[in-house]
Amino acid sequence: MTGRILDGNKIRDEIKAELADQIRDLKSVGVTPGLAAVLVGENPASQLYVRSKVKNCESLGLYSEKIELTADTTQPQLLELIDKLNRRDEIDGILVQLPLPPQIDSKVILGAVSPAKDVDGFHPVNVGQLVSGRPGLVPCTPAGIIEILVRSQIPIKGARAVVMGRSDIVGKPVAMLLLHNHATVTICHSRTRDLPLVASEADILVAAMGKAALVTGDFIKPGATVIDVGQNVLKTEEEVRRVFHDPTLPLQHLAAKGSVLVGDVQPEDMKEKSGAYTPVPGGVGPLTIAMLMANTVQAARLRRGLRTAAASQP
Ligand code: GUN
Repeated sequence: MTGRILDGNKIRDEIKAELADQIRDLKSVGVTPGLAAVLVGENPASQLYVRSKVKNCESLGLYSEKIELTADTTQPQLLELIDKLNRRDEIDGILVQLPLPPQIDSKVILGAVSPAKDVDGFHPVNVGQLVSGRPGLVPCTPAGIIEILVRSQIPIKGARAVVMGRSDIVGKPVAMLLLHNHATVTICHSRTRDLPLVASEADILVAAMGKAALVTGDFIKPGATVIDVGQNVLKTEEEVRRVFHDPTLPLQHLAAKGSVLVGDVQPEDMKEKSGAYTPVPGGVGPLTIAMLMANTVQAARLRRGLRTAAASQP
């Protein structure tokens, strides 16, 4: 069997088209939603993500600002910037790209962002809203995963869902969203005993452990839906040979581009054993950015007491 590809780029474009209509309506009443993206230091992956987030906002007619600070920025300096952004009326969403440099406590920073402008959904108030099933701003990647499942007509209600990974950014919030959508949810992690056995009970398997191709065929129930959240960069021929059964094409890619992107799921096994799967790249990644824009539009509405669109919670 060959799994159906869940095309994240196509779903992202659908969502962007819907958002474009909503932004046009908001502009007609004098509101242009605005996003401030804050980047501290020179992490190349973070630079790439933030550039892509800002570019996508601009392409939709949102107002956006990229604020870049040096790696030696202190916690009080960053708190001062966030305080200013919290007060600026034209800024509806504030995103502080993670990870932050070691001298800064990310929990303190995320707690300082106004919950009303917290488009990442990382503030404890929004975490609490999510857990208790109240409307709020929901983390982007988990919200995007639900969009992929719903728009691809993958049944969630009653399904066995296994989430591999317990991060605050993906694992915990996606488990909560799946639960609210009536799945039976198991969260597992690096200390779970017999990971393949637990994973292979899943109708919906979400891989978010951050380990290249950790999930192999024996983790996947035949016909399961596999959502691969991993973004791991392979840089050597040895790594590529270790991950791929047939390394011919990936090795060509490595020679041409200098690296190969691979998810947390072994791509050939996923294609062969799943019923449907998100490829890497082109699966979950595009949705994260689409949901950031959706959250910015929602934050703009919420702050002005305007009616909100449907969220990813039932
Ligand atoms: N770093 C990795 N993923 C994310 C995300 O979704 N938001 C932010 N702010 N930083 C990240």
